[in-house]
Amino acid sequence: INKLKIAPSVLAADFTRLGEEVRAAEQAGADWIHFDVMDGRFVPNISIGVPVLQALRGATSLPIDVHLMIVEPDQYIPIFAEAGANSISVHVEACPHLHRTLVSIAQAGCRVGVAINPHTPAIMLQEVMPLLDIINVMTVDPGFGGQSFLDGSLSKIAQLRAMAQAVGRDIDIEVDGGINTETTPRAVEAGANVLIAGTTIFRHKEGIQAGVDALRAAAS
Ligand code: DX5
Ligand code: ZN
Repeated sequence: INKLKIAPSVLAADFTRLGEEVRAAEQAGADWIHFDVMDGRFVPNISIGVPVLQALRGATSLPIDVHLMIVEPDQYIPIFAEAGANSISVHVEACPHLHRTLVSIAQAGCRVGVAINPHTPAIMLQEVMPLLDIINVMTVDPGFGGQSFLDGSLSKIAQLRAMAQAVGRDIDIEVDGGINTETTPRAVEAGANVLIAGTTIFRHKEGIQAGVDALRAAAS
């Protein structure tokens, strides 16, 4: 079944030394790098985009997992793919033609992901389950790092894992927001296998290695 993966979110990194931070995460044993794109419309914050992704692509050989918190993502999918994304997740809430959007992610050569906000029921993903490689279960309201994990997400993780198993797919189920050593065991027990963490890794007081190690220990 799905291997546990740790995906540090660069949103919490020191942007003045982004390359070093990401190389440190890679050396610490991170599995993927999580890259949060915010447009100031889908979410009330603006983060980073294509030029930063291009720069990061040259700084790490890890898969880069792009999380598009943007309205009308379709036109940007080939651009983020070209800039170095290995996987792209769009928000179900931002996609009136979700099926078409997901097909275009696959056509762009990326693993296909969908992100789901805390208020959105799991059933919204039922019909696209056969297309998915990744589900990002938002465990905070998206837009900012450093928020508290919403416990209501746990039952949704379990539902989505059951839905994935029912269609016979080893979907990577990510949890995104408020992931720390206290919330990790509960998220993993519910069925998540990809831990996205910004604050816990990049702001760990003993450094990035300690942050990655703490999460891995908490997951096992
Ligand atoms: C939130 C982003 C997250 C964020 C998580 O909108 O999608 O990836 O970086 O940050 P922490 O781990 O600090 O909650
Ligand atoms: Zn994210």
